Amino acid sequence: MKKIIIANFKMNPLTKKEAKNLFKAYDIKTKHTVVLCPPFPFLEKGKNYILGAQNCFCRTEGPYTGAVSSKMLKDVGCEYILVGHSERRHIFGETDKIINHKVKLCIKNKVKPVLCIGENVGEKKSEVIKRQLKEGLKDVETKGIIIAYEPIFAIGTGKVCEIKEIIESYNLIKKIVPDAKVLYGGSVNSLNAKEILKVTDGILVGGASIKKEEFLKIIK
Ligand code: PGA
Repeated sequence: MKKIIIANFKMNPLTKKEAKNLFKAYDIKTKHTVVLCPPFPFLEKGKNYILGAQNCFCRTEGPYTGAVSSKMLKDVGCEYILVGHSERRHIFGETDKIINHKVKLCIKNKVKPVLCIGENVGEKKSEVIKRQLKEGLKDVETKGIIIAYEPIFAIGTGKVCEIKEIIESYNLIKKIVPDAKVLYGGSVNSLNAKEILKVTDGILVGGASIKKEEFLKIIK
């Protein structure tokens, strides 16, 4: 079945040349919807992949030095934008309220928001999922919305979440937002991707997405 596979390059690679190299390698026909989210300076459309962005600002235009809006990203070809990634929440202090603004603006500007949620170690999973969905999706039309469940302990650690835990979170999210497509993210690699894809609507791949051989195995 066709799944959504999103590559989150994070703040990598360091040069346009390296980024182009990855785009070229990943611009292949596959049965999945492949979305590449490079850093802003390297945004570049391809034939077979869809372009995405890792973030946007919570306003559309104005005196916000350094900010980039979903409308601008749409204009340069982005169809998806990651919103509320745990690194944005923790390193940049984004709150559920800010994230909710971004989700709404993405929809208004006709870009698909990918709302990222997930609990930290020691937090109760179901409580965090419920709260982040309730606040992040406040006054949002949820038809076609994409949710990426990424438990923080699994991000960039090599400790992938157990399949039964992924299924449990998937079912909980679907129960709250039946219209959503639900992806999993956190230490996805070529060895575990297939199994995770069987129980979800897709995956969000960080570290493995900038390793050419790895990511090609995942999307093929
Ligand atoms: P990871 O990151 O695949 O490196 O764990 C996932 C993410 O942060 O989206």
